[in-house]
Amino acid sequence: MIAGSAAAASAGLSASTVFLSLLVPALVLYYIYFKISRRHMIELAEKIPGPEGLPLIGNTLLLLGSSDTMFRNLYRKSFEYDQIIKLWLGPKLLIFLMDPRDVEIILSSNVYIDKSAEYRFFQPWLGNGLLISTGPKWRAHRKLIAPTFHLNVLKSFIDLFNANSRTVVERMRKEGDKEFDCHDYMSECTVEILLETAMGVSKSTQDRSGYEYAMAVMKMCDILHLRHTKVWLRPDWLFNLTKYGKDQIRLLEIIHGLTKKVIARKKQEYKSGKRNILHDTEQSSNAKTAKITSVEGLSFGQAAGLKDDLDVDDNDVGEKKRQAFLDLLMEAGQNGSVLTDEEVKEQVDTIMFEGHDTTAAASSFFLSVMGCHPDIQEKVIQELDEIFGDSDRPATFQDTLEMKYLERCLMETLRMYPPVPVIARTINTDLKLGEFSKPDFIRLENS
Ligand code: HEM
Repeated sequence: MIAGSAAAASAGLSASTVFLSLLVPALVLYYIYFKISRRHMIELAEKIPGPEGLPLIGNTLLLLGSSDTMFRNLYRKSFEYDQIIKLWLGPKLLIFLMDPRDVEIILSSNVYIDKSAEYRFFQPWLGNGLLISTGPKWRAHRKLIAPTFHLNVLKSFIDLFNANSRTVVERMRKEGDKEFDCHDYMSECTVEILLETAMGVSKSTQDRSGYEYAMAVMKMCDILHLRHTKVWLRPDWLFNLTKYGKDQIRLLEIIHGLTKKVIARKKQEYKSGKRNILHDTEQSSNAKTAKITSVEGLSFGQAAGLKDDLDVDDNDVGEKKRQAFLDLLMEAGQNGSVLTDEEVKEQVDTIMFEGHDTTAAASSFFLSVMGCHPDIQEKVIQELDEIFGDSDRPATFQDTLEMKYLERCLMETLRMYPPVPVIARTINTDLKLGEFSKPDFIRLENS
């Protein structure tokens, strides 16, 4: 018995000795290889400020704990530095940019469009939709879809915005003086709005599948955030063995269940010849407001002078431009000519997620901020009273242009509580940054 345990112990010892004697040289070799092969990147990274890290693991300890703790740690750390910070997560170099002018260099570029590796966790859900895709596919699909979010298309939805807003206000009113989470209401409402506007499917979710969808999305996002922060949940094979992997399968069934239903219904309508051409409900006042509704004339002062691919020439009032998102996709998906069925599904999943989750968070933050600042809330109400007087008529697009104070409150809420607080890109070529905040350009490469 004793001899047996001694033999086992010595066998165990020798196995661990062999393992360690292989691991240590392997790590040393990898370290040397990394230092040589990434010499250029390491030299450039040295010019960027950042907290001292430990050998091999770098600053990984900063990212321990729950998502909240991690985010708080990073947020606090950011105050010790200026507008640009570097962190090493083992061999991975992360550069955090905080100067909007630096961020603009990346986001306005046609080159730096590769999403960072972390986005791949969205793939089982969103496939290769706009959020994940890159290169020619991203460019082509973005160009195809952009006109469906043109201002004139959005203006044609104003009646639906009004009706859904009234419904959610009436539903929240029933809560009375009780404390409740407005985010649940906002999520269901923004899903309903998207279904009725971008997807052009009217009242399809009487069965509350919109609510179930929104709740499933919240839980999916929790799982994705866990995978972003917990290193052991990153490999798919390991993740699939965990409870989270099983939960993900169940949640995706609910999420994809709704989008598949929506596409099937639309396809049916399309086949039976039904076409949904949008009409501007404020056409009569259009002539008057045509000038102020061009991008420069919008009260969104910050956007003045900026043009992006959503700015289609206003004179180009083609039928395509007047189609809602899913109608355009149906046309593009005819016989798989421009889009395959799978691509249609990926873009629908992407827009359903991106369109409702962000706006639900933004409007919930806004309501909470108004609740915390009754004096500011009062001024917002005053402005609305000046526009509407005693009338409870629906809001027009022109009315929204008068809501200057409300708009500033919305913008400030977005600044303080951004629904998407972090986005990331992989940079594969040298890039000049810090042009504005530093005397010398910082050049970095991360490949
Ligand atoms: C307050 C509201 C919103 C905020 C704060 C917001 C924020 C963002 C941000 C930060 C990104 C960049 C993500 C990245 O590159 O990693 C993004 C992308 C995107 N958003 Fe929004 N968004 C909002 C509303 C919407 C709405 C209403 C829709 C559609 C109906 C939408 C559709 C998209 C799509 C499709 C993308 C991917 C675009 C691409 O990569 O080409 N978003 N959004």
